Order: sequence, then C-alpha cells, then structure tokens
Amino acid sequence: MNGLDKGPILVTGASGGIGGATVRQLIAEGAEVIANGRNKEALTALATETGCRTLAFDLESEDEVSAALGGLDLYGVVNCGGFGGEIATPMDTDISVFDKVMAINARGALLVTKYASQSMIRLGAGGAIVNVSSQASLVGLRGHISYGSSKAALDNITRVSALELGEHGIRVNSVNPTVVMTPMSAWYWGRPEVQGPFLDTMPLHRWATEDEIAAPIVFLLSDGAAMISGVSLPIDGGFTAV
Ligand SMILES: NC(=O)c1ccc[n+]([C@@H]2O[C@H](COP(=O)([O-])OP(=O)(O)OC[C@H]3O[C@@H](n4cnc5c(N)ncnc54)[C@H](OP(=O)(O)O)[C@@H]3O)[C@@H](O)[C@H]2O)c1
Repeated sequence: MNGLDKGPILVTGASGGIGGATVRQLIAEGAEVIANGRNKEALTALATETGCRTLAFDLESEDEVSAALGGLDLYGVVNCGGFGGEIATPMDTDISVFDKVMAINARGALLVTKYASQSMIRLGAGGAIVNVSSQASLVGLRGHISYGSSKAALDNITRVSALELGEHGIRVNSVNPTVVMTPMSAWYWGRPEVQGPFLDTMPLHRWATEDEIAAPIVFLLSDGAAMISGVSLPIDGGFTAV
C-alpha cells in the first residue's frame, strides 16, 4: 500500500500547472482528491477529466478558508496555490505587491495548514502536508525580493509545522522547484537573456516539467516517505547544490 488511500487529499493551486499535474498523478495512484483554486471553470474541467472533487476558495481570505475546511475530513494537503508577483529589487519593490505575494504564498498556506491540521488532529489518523516552495527560498535570486521572501517564510512554516504536528503523526515537508514553464514564470524566465546564463550554471541545463514536480510531491505524501518530515527538497536540476 502506498498510503495514499488513507483519506482525502486537498490540493490548492489545482487549477494551475503544477497543481493540476499533482491531482492527475494522485488520482492515478488511487487517492481521493479535493481540488482547490478560484477559477471554477478550470476546476470543473479537471473534475470532469479526473473524477476529483472541487472546492473553490480564496487563499487570501481566512473566512473563506475556515468555512471551506472547517469540519472537512482530510488526510493530506498540498499547498500549491501561489502568486509570482513582481520582478523587483529591494530598491524598487512595490510594497503592495510584496504584501499580496506574502498573503497568498505564506499566509494562505499557513491558513490552510491551520484549518486542515485541526481536522487531521480531530480524526487522529496522522497525515501529510507538502508545501510547494521554490529554489528562490534557498538562494538569493535577482529580482526575487518578494517571491523569495514569501517562499522562505513558507519553508519556515514547514519546519515549525513539522515540529508542532509531529506528535500527531502528521509530516510536513516542502518541495523547492526550479522553473517550470507555466504562465507564472514563462514571461520572465523564457527570455533568452535570463534563461541562457541561468541554465548554463545548472548541472542538468534544462527547466523542470510539471510532472517532475508532481512526482516528488506524491512521494512525500506516501508511506514511502514515512520517516521524512521538516525537509525542503530541491527539485532544481542541481542548481542550488553548486
Ligand atoms: N512555475 C514555476 O516556475 C514554479 C517554480 C517554483 C515554484 N512554483 C510554485 O508552484 C506553485 C504552482 O505554480 P504554477 O507554476 O503551477 O502556477 P500557475 O499555473 O500560475 O498556478 C497558480 C495556482 O495558484 C492559484 N492561486 C493563486 N492565487 C490564489 C488565491 N488567492 N486563492 C486561491 N488560489 C490561488 C491559482 O488558482 P486560480 O487561478 O484558480 O485562482 C492557480 O491554481 C506556486 O506556489 C508557485 O509559486 C512554481
């Protein structure tokens, strides 16, 4: 048994590229999946394709998160919903964009963790949470003052949650992907002058695919990762190792 059949798994950001791939792989492994985003059309299309359930809410609203998750039985969570924000330096950042990036990527994931973990503890059957962070939390990347800060906050949410929830048999981990050519990143990282020098320094010299991020997420939710908690796992072609 891969352990993915222990109860429903909520995937935020399921209407997007990496979240959608994660839903498809989880369903293929026999999991029951609840797909979240704000775009109801995209969620309905995913449900028609995969048989997942859908649950739309805005990660920026504690009222919406608590209403959606209160009393919902969950075994797992993938905090994949996210916002790229701006490419800016500490000298020219638009602080309202910084606030929004933090509100979705860090505060939103913490709100989901707050209400989901209450339900996991109530059920008493353990659980697993995977936070979709970024390589941008592990090293300083030019232009990434807001986004990198939000993902560094998310990595700390991972560590402290792993500490606090471990006694309830709930594991909490991050994955830290390099660039995947979804709409969030393609407009910037697809530029030859940005892409070329970056890929030159990365051992594998190519961007990741959605499925290459989804597979380690599925592994971290499964019983194969039963002794793994509190890690930030780079999925970055070796970029942060050299
Ligand atoms: N693409 C990359 O290069 C890359 C690299 C490293 C990490 N990541 C991380 O991977 C995750 C998924 O990114 P992606 O590339 O798949 O991007 P994407 O295709 O743009 O998807 C973003 C997802 O986040 C959801 N979302 C955004 N704001 C939300 C809000 N306020 N409330 C609820 N949902 C919200 C979107 O839902 P709606 O559109 O339905 O609102 C969508 O499902 C993000 O956390 C991102 O930071 C991406």
